[in-house]
Amino acid sequence: MRSLLFVPGDRPKKIEKAFQSGADLLLLDLEDSVAPSAKAEARAIVADFIKQASRQSNAPKLYVRINALDSGFADADLDHVIVSGPAGILLPKCTGGMDVQHLSAKLAVREAEADLSDGAIRIIGIATETAASLFQMGTYAGASHRLEALTWGAEDLSTDLGAETNRLETGDYTDPYRLARAMLLMAAANAQMPAIDTVFTAYRDEKALLKECEAARRDGFTGKMAIHPAQVPVINDVFTPSPETVSEAQAIVDAFTVHPEAGVVGINGQMIDRPHLRRAERILARAHLAQAKH
Ligand code: COA
Ligand code: MG
Repeated sequence: MRSLLFVPGDRPKKIEKAFQSGADLLLLDLEDSVAPSAKAEARAIVADFIKQASRQSNAPKLYVRINALDSGFADADLDHVIVSGPAGILLPKCTGGMDVQHLSAKLAVREAEADLSDGAIRIIGIATETAASLFQMGTYAGASHRLEALTWGAEDLSTDLGAETNRLETGDYTDPYRLARAMLLMAAANAQMPAIDTVFTAYRDEKALLKECEAARRDGFTGKMAIHPAQVPVINDVFTPSPETVSEAQAIVDAFTVHPEAGVVGINGQMIDRPHLRRAERILARAHLAQAKH
């Protein structure tokens, strides 16, 4: 899951385009990019699209971003889209493991009604959109077997904080958003699941996107959300482990395979121990998944 592309749920042409974009996953949006008056139409368009979309192996996974649990729209969103069998739900304004469990219960009921297998529909949470959510970051571990990744958002959080902006003139995030980003990394690692970086809204600025992707990869994110198809190749490229990274990881795995009893080995003058092995195994798993997309 390198690239997750948002597309407004009430725009069939854009949805078609997004499907061809090369993104690993589509986030068919019923929330912020859809006006309240267009919610019903968007639900119908999204459900129809999921029903007829091809399930070929390299097609993007189809997720639906529903409205927040307390928005008054979430139940109708689920009632309309679950029958079509989406791969998962992106939950905005997710305020801790309790919200994930709450959504999971709603999904279980609708899966049963739609004859889908129990637990088929996965969840990704946007876990930093309110100040309250930052105090719940330790609650995701073990919250639900459906939860497969966590991501963060800076736009709604700045609204909640009453901030004038969330970026400095240099383009870097101001402290509250750097905190949210760091906390999300901790929450995802604590829950042993991938951390996905937030959207970069200046969709014509490829250079700045590349810089943000590289910083995200450096810090442990394994993918990034996108808002425009042009962002997808940049994101896929940065989050596909490079051949050098893969061969370094393979060398570490091989060294421990040859010496299964070793706690630590030396490779090219570097001390390599068990945490390095775990990291190498994860890189190989990600490279394997990226390979499968080609
Ligand atoms: N998914 C699919 N197609 C998209 C797209 C997206 N997210 N964003 C743009 N496109 C399409 C456009 O429809 C256009 O198609 P066309 O050439 O067939 O007309 C083409 O890509 C080029 O688009 P462009 O003219 O560069 O941008 P735009 O002005 O049409 O759209 C946005 C700009 C921001 C409105 C658009 O990118 C968008 O809707 N993004 C997603 C917003 C969203 O979902 N937000 C919620 C999460 S934060
Ligand atoms: Mg939002």
